[in-house]
Amino acid sequence: MPTFEVHPDIAQARTLATEFYTSVRHFEAAKEKLFAPSWQYVGHVDQLPENGSAVPLTLLENYLEEPLVLVRDNKAHIRCLSNVCTHRGNILVNAPCKADKLRCRYHGRQFHLDGRFAHMPEFKEVKDFPNPSDDLRQLPLHQWGKLLFAGLEQAPPDAFPPMEQRMQWSPMDQLVFRPDPSQRAYRASQLGTVRGKLSRRLPHSLRTPCA
Ligand code: FES
Repeated sequence: MPTFEVHPDIAQARTLATEFYTSVRHFEAAKEKLFAPSWQYVGHVDQLPENGSAVPLTLLENYLEEPLVLVRDNKAHIRCLSNVCTHRGNILVNAPCKADKLRCRYHGRQFHLDGRFAHMPEFKEVKDFPNPSDDLRQLPLHQWGKLLFAGLEQAPPDAFPPMEQRMQWSPMDQLVFRPDPSQRAYRASQLGTVRGKLSRRLPHSLRTPCA
């Protein structure tokens, strides 16, 4: 990515060249260098009320487009996992649901709720299988009150402690999750799944079992 200079003295700084805002090359470079390593809000603890709750999301929709899933495992530990099957890349969880394992509907590969490979039909005789690349990738997750943040590449940024310090006056652990029906409808149409459509009708669609 080329270097763009911004004068530290605001009185002397100039707006970046138009090319910065219109170039596809800079757009792609910013994706990889600025946003892929960044940390983003990914969900709210209330979305995962029970052990086995699973909620899919797309990290920076229409930009990074990284399919992830938030899961509360059997010990109530919340995790952020890749939502892409390690066999042929099928999406594992298409709508909020409850499960004891994540099951791929393509060829039946199963994963524990901590992302470890669990089972694959008719693969018993395969040599060196499973190996760590068959596990779902787990992303580092940071919980601030009831808010969940994740990053694709690195440990939580140093910015969290000072922000949390400065926001001590705010009861972050009392924030209540309000599902946005329009967002749910959008996601359902995007995924085009029956379960997605069901989730619009069920405020707590976790009654829907995972595949
Ligand atoms: S793509 Fe998931 S089991 Fe084949």
